[in-house]
Amino acid sequence: MGIMDTERPVPFTIENPERIPTPRYFDAEFYALETERLWPHVWQMACRLEQIAEIGDWVEYTNLGKSVIVVRTKDGVKAFHNACRHRGVPFVGEGGHGNCKTPGFICPFHGWRWNLEGKNTFVYGRHMFSEDQLDPADLALRACRVETWGGCAFINFDDDAPSFRDTIGPVADRLEAHGVGNLRAEWWYQTVLPANWKVAMEAFMEGYHVMRTHPQLQQAAPMLYNAMYGMDTGGIGVPINPNLSVRDNIKAQIKHLGLLSEGMSGMVHEKEVEIARQLADVELPEDPQQAVMMWYGILNHQITEQLRARGENVPDLNAVAVSDPINAVEFLFPNTFLLPMFSSVSAYRIRPLGPESCMFELWSLTHVAEGVEHETVMEPKVLPYDSQDFPPIPRQDYANIPIQQKGLHAIGFDFMRLSKDIEGLISNYNRIIDGHLKGVAPDKLAAATNLLGGNFDGKILDLGF
Ligand code: FES
Ligand SMILES: [Fe+2]
Repeated sequence: MGIMDTERPVPFTIENPERIPTPRYFDAEFYALETERLWPHVWQMACRLEQIAEIGDWVEYTNLGKSVIVVRTKDGVKAFHNACRHRGVPFVGEGGHGNCKTPGFICPFHGWRWNLEGKNTFVYGRHMFSEDQLDPADLALRACRVETWGGCAFINFDDDAPSFRDTIGPVADRLEAHGVGNLRAEWWYQTVLPANWKVAMEAFMEGYHVMRTHPQLQQAAPMLYNAMYGMDTGGIGVPINPNLSVRDNIKAQIKHLGLLSEGMSGMVHEKEVEIARQLADVELPEDPQQAVMMWYGILNHQITEQLRARGENVPDLNAVAVSDPINAVEFLFPNTFLLPMFSSVSAYRIRPLGPESCMFELWSLTHVAEGVEHETVMEPKVLPYDSQDFPPIPRQDYANIPIQQKGLHAIGFDFMRLSKDIEGLISNYNRIIDGHLKGVAPDKLAAATNLLGGNFDGKILDLGF
């Protein structure tokens, strides 16, 4: 945390990496700084590529009042700032989608038109304008940076920011090896949480809360959580109960997978739990530790084989577990999460709506065999955050988030105190935010952001600035 040549003053900055000042989660000035200095310079997941599968398909993406249109053209995916070059009216509304192959984008105000390459094709009453107001290069829609990765389009409002790949780092390749680019959405939920966007995100940056927040998971596999978080046994251990028989250990694992599936759908898919149940009585060594590890190897193999036999393009799960290790939760700075376990994935995206309000979206993603009927999910199902229609695990998380937001305002509660060993991601990404607000060089910020790959449940890190 050295002094930088370009350092700009930032209120409520993190001085001690284990202490996060609470006003960062409600102060209007801090929120305004994020709006001005963070969000316009970071890669944001704008849409899933299956939403724009055909030439001319477009999707609108808004964050903090800035709107872009992401469109599929014959030359790949492009993005344009959503404002008419005449008097600035947006072509399309928030959350809109459609196909503009013909006749292109038409401004609803005076009817000027653009094609999907962004070229102006029609000005109503052209002769009434000075020719120099209608210069084609100047009339063309303003392009926004866009990169595709992991089955999604990511946009960045900053033409000079390091690329998406350079920012996210090697975890992008590791996730790709796990096949995240081939997934399709099964469902998509959206809700508004009465909490700062960072409070909502931080509920998914550690597994330390499982014991109290998700007791069903803890009870199904107590050894896993107790060993991981130091109760009873202490230290990191293999999630096996030596007091139980091999059979009962396997039963406990299957029960745990079933609960994860019920809770998260994509994270562990029903079809994967079904395969796990087929393996309840498979032959295993007598030592419970060896047996459970071997059982997971067999499960990975069976999921790979059985889903491939159905025509699904899944990676060899045992091979990628060795070649490209990833965590149960992977965070893509600043606001996207992927939760991969076997072949399917849950995904989250969180957008700020105000200092104490955010939009939380949740996808269940899985592989779909070629030729199998699959309806593209084009719009989220919007639910109140306390809806009983949410799967049990996010419902439990959503119960904490709004009350934590209230607690942050308590007199005398000036900072959150973090575990240096397993809540490090919360400190690390917050200090990268500070780096953006202070004006740390983009290449240094990208190098620090690379370190967040695999940092779930991880340590506080030296970010190098
Ligand atoms: S504002 Fe778009 S045509 Fe006038
Ligand atoms: Fe949780």
